[in-house]
Amino acid sequence: MVKKKILITGGAGFIGSHVVRLFVNNYPSYEIYNLDSLTYAGNLENLKDIDQKANYHFIKADITDANLMTELFDKHQFDSVIHLAAESHVDRSITDPLLFIKTNILGTVNLLNAAKNAWKDQMDGKLFYHISTDEVYGSLGETGLFTETTPYDPRSPYSSSKASSDHLVRAYYHTYKLPVVISNCSNNYGPNQFPEKLIPLSISNIKNNKSIPIYGKGENIRDWLFVIDHATAIDAIYHRGTNGETYNIGGINEWTNIDLIYKLCEVMDAKLGRDKGESAKLITFVKDRAGHDMRYAIDSSKLMKELGWSPSLQFEEGIEKTVDWYLANEEWLNNIVSGDYESYYTQQYVNR
Ligand code: NAD
Ligand code: DAU
Repeated sequence: MVKKKILITGGAGFIGSHVVRLFVNNYPSYEIYNLDSLTYAGNLENLKDIDQKANYHFIKADITDANLMTELFDKHQFDSVIHLAAESHVDRSITDPLLFIKTNILGTVNLLNAAKNAWKDQMDGKLFYHISTDEVYGSLGETGLFTETTPYDPRSPYSSSKASSDHLVRAYYHTYKLPVVISNCSNNYGPNQFPEKLIPLSISNIKNNKSIPIYGKGENIRDWLFVIDHATAIDAIYHRGTNGETYNIGGINEWTNIDLIYKLCEVMDAKLGRDKGESAKLITFVKDRAGHDMRYAIDSSKLMKELGWSPSLQFEEGIEKTVDWYLANEEWLNNIVSGDYESYYTQQYVNR
C-alpha cells in the first residue's frame, strides 16, 4: 500500500471538504492533514461524517503565517500539498481586495516557500497541486472556450489574486524545480456551498420566500460543474497529472444566470409543493456586479483525453441532488449563517 502524507488546505470549505472526504475514504493508507483557519467560509460540520477516521487530521492554522507554515512542514513532513485555501467570493473581493491579496497571493507564496525548503534535498515523489479557477482567463464573447493556453486576463480582484498565485506556482516550478500541477475549474455547485454564491443563495431565499437577486439582466453565462465531479478530477490530476502541467476542468454545461434560476425555481416549486411559477415570482433584477464577466466556458478535452476524466452527472440530476441536500440540511444552513454573513448580506443586497 502506498503511504503518503498529504496537506490539503481549505478543507473545511465547500470544495475542500469534498476533496478531503474523497481522499480520506478512498485512500486509507494516506494520512490527510486538513489545514484551515476557519474563516466565515470554513465549517468543520462539513466533515463530521469522516472526522473520526484514523487517517484524518485537522490543523487550525492561517496560511498567511509564514513561520507557522515552515514549522508545520518540519513537524509533519508532508510529501504533497493540495492547495484550496482562498478567499473565493468575487463580490467580497470588490469590497475588500487587500484580504484577497493577502490570503490568495501571500498565503500561496508561504506554502510554496515551506514546500521548497522542506523538499530541497529530495524533490522526487513530491507534489504541490494548486487549485485555481477559470476566471483567470477573463471573459468570453458569445463563442469560444478557455483552453490551457488562453492568455490570462483576470478582471476582478479575486481573479487577479488567483492569476497571480498561478504565476507564482509556475515560477517556483521553473526557478526552483518544485514539482507542481495546476487545475483551473469552472463554477461548482452542490452540497455545502456557502449561501453567498448564486445557487445556494437562491435556494435559501426561495425557501424563505425572499427575493432572488439577479445582477443586471441575468444574461451572464457560467459553466456549472457538480462539486463531486471536481473532486474526482482533482483525484485524477493528483495521481496521474504530469509535473509542470495545467488542466482545465469544466462541466460542458453553460447556462445564462436567468435560465438557471428559472430551472432552479421549477425544481423548488416541485420539491416544496408550490404551484408552477410560484418561486419565479421572487426573481428581482438588481444593480449589476462591477466589472461583471460576461461568459465563462471551458475546454476540458486535455483532462478528458489524457487522464480519462469526465463529469458524471447531468445538470438536471445535479441540481435536484443539490436542492434535496439543502432542504434536508436546514440546520447546516441556519448554523452557517454567521454574524459576518448577516452584515455582508445587508451591505450587499439591502443597502445597495
Ligand atoms: P470556500 O470559500 O468555500 O472555502 C475556502 C476555505 O479556505 C474555507 O474553509 C476557509 O476557512 C479557508 N481559508 C480562507 N482563508 C484561509 C487562510 N488564510 N488560511 C487557511 N485557510 C483559509 O471556497 P471554495 O469555493 O471551496 O473554493 C476552494 C478553492 O477552489 C479556492 O482556491 C477557489 O479559488 C477554487 N475554485 C472555486 C470554484 C467555485 O466554484 N467555488 C471554482 C474553481 C476554483
Ligand atoms: O468560475 C469559477 C468561479 O465561480 C470560482 O473561482 C469562484 O470562487 C466562485 O465564486 C464562482 O464565481 P462567480 O462569480 O461566477 O460565482 P457567483 O455564484 O458569485 O455568481 C455566479 C453568477 O451569478 C455571476 O454571473 C454573478 C451572478 N449573481 C451572483 C450572485 C451572488 C447574481 O446574479 N446574483 C447574486 O446574488
